[in-house]
Amino acid sequence: MKILVTGSEGMLGRTVMRRLADDHVMTGVDLADGDLTDPRTVKDIVARTAPDWVVHCAAWTDVDGAESSPDQAMAANAGATENLASECGLSGAGLCFISTDYVFDGRGDGFAEQDKRCPVNHYGLTKARAEEIVEAMPGPWQILRTSWLFGDGRVNFVKTIRYLLETKDKLRVVDDQRGSPTYAEDLADIIGFLVSGRFRGIFHGTNAGSASWFELAREIAVGCGADPERIEPCPSSEYPTAAVRPACSILHSSNLEEVGCAARPSWRDAVLRYLRFLDSGQAVHP
Ligand SMILES: NC(=O)c1ccc[n+]([C@@H]2O[C@H](COP(=O)([O-])OP(=O)(O)OC[C@H]3O[C@@H](n4cnc5c(N)ncnc54)[C@H](OP(=O)(O)O)[C@@H]3O)[C@@H](O)[C@H]2O)c1
Repeated sequence: MKILVTGSEGMLGRTVMRRLADDHVMTGVDLADGDLTDPRTVKDIVARTAPDWVVHCAAWTDVDGAESSPDQAMAANAGATENLASECGLSGAGLCFISTDYVFDGRGDGFAEQDKRCPVNHYGLTKARAEEIVEAMPGPWQILRTSWLFGDGRVNFVKTIRYLLETKDKLRVVDDQRGSPTYAEDLADIIGFLVSGRFRGIFHGTNAGSASWFELAREIAVGCGADPERIEPCPSSEYPTAAVRPACSILHSSNLEEVGCAARPSWRDAVLRYLRFLDSGQAVHP
């Protein structure tokens, strides 16, 4: 298949470009190639690349910044997706939209694919609006929600904790938010599976298991050979943020299992693999 990846310089987009290259003809675009909020730009990109499928990783991902720049965030997440959905509809290409656990409010013990969207921050609202646009497409589409992503990108939680362990004695990390940490490499494999199979619908793609940020940080310490006791739990109130975060945004998955996607490795296994990758010196963003 000819696959167009948006956000191909971002953490997930870059990984998808590399991971799917053995089986597909890959083309990537990022902001430097044109702003996807402009319909004309999207028309030109789709006409020029003539994809069978678009993996739409580009997004406004600054969750707190979305609170102070709501219109720009809405344009980047919902507007750009609307432009792509429209061009995919005209050309017959499929669209795989990468979405987030933040479309949910975090009450309860996790969310299933069919649960009602109920975002508690503006970033979540923009992604929820984009999901509605994708769901209304007459042609082939997929919504793949993921969460707590880490991988070869400029900033992520694993890199931050690894750095702080080198520079501070004790760390206090939030213990009252739970989610499903996800390695971009494993998510890229799920994307490859969904796109190759042309499956339609909403899917939840994360590594297996769940954690609080505190538990994740302790595992990172173990993986770095540091004493995990140097990391102490604290409530979210110790780190006030512009955007409210869902307390428990675990993504339960049954639709991936139904279409025969292989079981995902545990998040602990994924963290250790990423730390080994960082140590290998091969990372674009060490
Ligand atoms: N990171 C997470 O924890 C997480 C969790 C759940 C879901 N997701 C979703 O997963 C996907 C990938 O996330 P990521 O962390 O890989 O993102 P990322 O590293 O921030 O990459 C996103 C890319 O999109 C580009 N972009 C932004 N606005 C654009 C526009 N208007 N036109 C063209 N390109 C634009 C960005 O360019 P600039 O950098 O130059 O702005 C960046 O290269 C996103 O859809 C995100 O919502 C992420």
